[in-house]
Amino acid sequence: MKQKGKLLTPELANFIKEFQEKIETALRLHLPVSEMPGTQRLNQALDYAVFPGGKRLRPIITLLAGRLVDANESTAMSIACAIEFLHTSSLIFDDLPGMDDADLRRNKKALHLVYGEGLAVLAAVALLNQSYALFGVAASGATDKRSISKLMTEATNCVGADGMIGGQVIDLESHATDMDEKTRSHRDAKTIALMRLMMTANALATGANDHDCAALAGFGERMGEAYQICDDLLDELAESAQTGKTPGQDARHLRPTAIAELGRDDAYRRAMSQLEIGKELLRSRFGVRMEVELLSEIGDFVTSGVEDLASLSESFAG
Ligand code: IPE
Ligand code: IPE
Ligand code: MG
Ligand code: MG
Ligand code: MG
Repeated sequence: MKQKGKLLTPELANFIKEFQEKIETALRLHLPVSEMPGTQRLNQALDYAVFPGGKRLRPIITLLAGRLVDANESTAMSIACAIEFLHTSSLIFDDLPGMDDADLRRNKKALHLVYGEGLAVLAAVALLNQSYALFGVAASGATDKRSISKLMTEATNCVGADGMIGGQVIDLESHATDMDEKTRSHRDAKTIALMRLMMTANALATGANDHDCAALAGFGERMGEAYQICDDLLDELAESAQTGKTPGQDARHLRPTAIAELGRDDAYRRAMSQLEIGKELLRSRFGVRMEVELLSEIGDFVTSGVEDLASLSESFAG
């Protein structure tokens, strides 16, 4: 995990170093490949979509959130894989011609351009399907037998029509010229909902108390909003060398971005303030813990990718 202009503290660098390889191994182990004859291209498509990945920010965050509620490491790792698979599946769908029609993802050709739309859809559904299987297995070890249903309810809500899917619908159906706070807050669910889930899934699987779950959810939602605002800013301002994506996608589609609602400066300020609220929620619930520090640092890391651009005052003048 590297970001322009920002050095990681040794603590975060060590945590990432310790878990990076384990995450890649677990993703490989859980990749939902088919054993049926004639499915090689699906398996290749799955491999292409997941390896090498992007920043792998979500599994790292999921593991840290799991530590805050003392989730056991193998449960937390299965959940981290489920989150990364959900995320990757959402990116495959997002890039399809009927959605963002994007050519470049994670510095490579979008999956549908290499394997065709049919296989891209099937690979995305396979990853989505596998996520629920992993959630189910992870929660089945909990002493509190309500854990499975709590986690499944949270996952289906977060992915569902009032979560990520709903947010993606608003993104597709609204226009930059017709923006207001409500539209953006609904649209932001496309990212916020999965970031909530990455924070809450381990807590729900291990039967953590409601106060812990609420603080984790609060951080995930605030971080999710900040994340999407920064993604909007990067789409407009950054080059593909930084994002691994083609710049200017939102303008091309007249998407209802944070910039369309607030302008660049205020959008950036909003991202920073949401993140601060999220960090405070964690601090006030969990106190001085290394995991809280590391999660906060990851939040800072996310906005730092935009900070470098913010310092180019001429680019923020408009
Ligand atoms: C991209 O997310 C999609 C958004 C929610 C903005 P990331 O930029 O975290 O994607 P990867 O996993 O690093 O490629
Ligand atoms: C993607 O939002 C959100 C989901 C995939 C659910 P974007 O369309 O802004 O993400 P990028 O910019 O293509 O990564
Ligand atoms: Mg999109
Ligand atoms: Mg997109
Ligand atoms: Mg974007």
